[in-house]
Amino acid sequence: MKIGFIGTGKLGMPCAEAIASKGHDVTGYDVAPCNSHQVVLMPTIKDAVEGRDIVFIAVPTPHDPDYDGKTPTAHLVPKDFNYSIVKQVLAEANNHMTQDQMLVLISTVLPGTTRKQFVDLVTNTRFVYNPYLIAMGSVAWDMVNPEMVMIGTADGDVTGDATELVEFYKTIMENNPRYEIGTWDECECIKVFYNTFISTKIGLANMIQDVAQKQGNINVDVVTNALAKSTMRIMGPQYMKAGMGDGGGCHPRDNIALRYMAEELNLGYDLFDSIMNAREIQAKNIALELVQHANEHNMQIVIHGKAYKPNVEYCDGSYSLLIGHYCEEQGFAPVYVDPLTGDQYDSTEPCVFLLAHSASTTYKYTGKDSADKLYCNIPNGSIVVDPWRTYANPNCTVIHYGNTRKGTLR
Ligand SMILES: NC(=O)c1ccc[n+]([C@@H]2O[C@H](COP(=O)([O-])OP(=O)(O)OC[C@H]3O[C@@H](n4cnc5c(N)ncnc54)[C@H](O)[C@@H]3O)[C@@H](O)[C@H]2O)c1
Repeated sequence: MKIGFIGTGKLGMPCAEAIASKGHDVTGYDVAPCNSHQVVLMPTIKDAVEGRDIVFIAVPTPHDPDYDGKTPTAHLVPKDFNYSIVKQVLAEANNHMTQDQMLVLISTVLPGTTRKQFVDLVTNTRFVYNPYLIAMGSVAWDMVNPEMVMIGTADGDVTGDATELVEFYKTIMENNPRYEIGTWDECECIKVFYNTFISTKIGLANMIQDVAQKQGNINVDVVTNALAKSTMRIMGPQYMKAGMGDGGGCHPRDNIALRYMAEELNLGYDLFDSIMNAREIQAKNIALELVQHANEHNMQIVIHGKAYKPNVEYCDGSYSLLIGHYCEEQGFAPVYVDPLTGDQYDSTEPCVFLLAHSASTTYKYTGKDSADKLYCNIPNGSIVVDPWRTYANPNCTVIHYGNTRKGTLR
């Protein structure tokens, strides 16, 4: 195929050369002088994009020089990346491209940026967001052996543009990667949360290192190796299903106790304060969603599932009760329904329901079939907020909390 690359820097050039080495005809353009035996460098964007099937953009989305992390940043005001180079390049490439071609942005951007700031600049050609998970030092290898390829389109459908790009990648990949096709916004999220997930993991592992150093009699590697081998719950896809917050008799109180330890050992930071704070505000956010509907429609809030998880009677650390607390704080005291805690509520009037329990999610790791069941009748006309995004009922307004894609129930 005929491929163009705008921005042949640390990422762009090795990628362009990797594509050329697979037999594609590759042109490039960069504002700075570049050399390559495999990529034909052009004097203008117009020359680099004309007649190309696919044009990739790998120009910088720089941050403020004070924000790269080699000096302290925690005290600075948070700032977005700078998108002015991407915008300028998109507008110029668009001037010289047609609907037969495809313009593919690789540069890293924050979720929502493509839709808000870029798509209006790309009117003449088709536009895909396709960030790379590539590390310095192994760019060319990473390019053709990725863990996944993220392909973001306007509607996230596995059609047209996405398929065309997948077919192209099949000609260069040396492994057999996953293709994750979503909206522009979903792919922006996958990319930045992939990176920040790694930072979070390192931050937690290094906190154990600090604890070992300050506490004594601990080799951090013994601890992290034991955790790394724990594939049943912590290393793997478990707990990667967004829904209700952490609860029960152990987890919240362990976090709270570790806050005390962080202070006792004088670690100098308190990760658990952030985690517990996030857990609480997430509960408040769900409560505000319930309250908004209860208020608008003058309905009772019913929290379906009071125990901290399904199939048990215990309410210790119950996230349902925490959400109930925030509803009450807003003047909308909820009622609870849960057969194991002795809470019954059978309304004939429509209500705002929160489907707090999901047995199929909670007990998935056991490998046993745990079906989700309803604890009461849900009257027609009710508003059902489902943070597990599985419930369907044509006689109710069902809100799949956390799914704001167009064409979904919300
Ligand atoms: N380097 C990586 O491993 C990596 C990995 C994933 C994503 N990214 C993202 O890719 C993007 C590029 O990163 P990079 O590391 O290659 O940066 P870089 O600075 O090494 O390369 C960018 C290139 O774009 C050129 N450029 C600047 N303005 C231009 C313009 N107006 N027209 C044409 N070219 C122009 C620069 O001269 C430079 O050669 C960034 O958004 C980065 O976050 C980088």
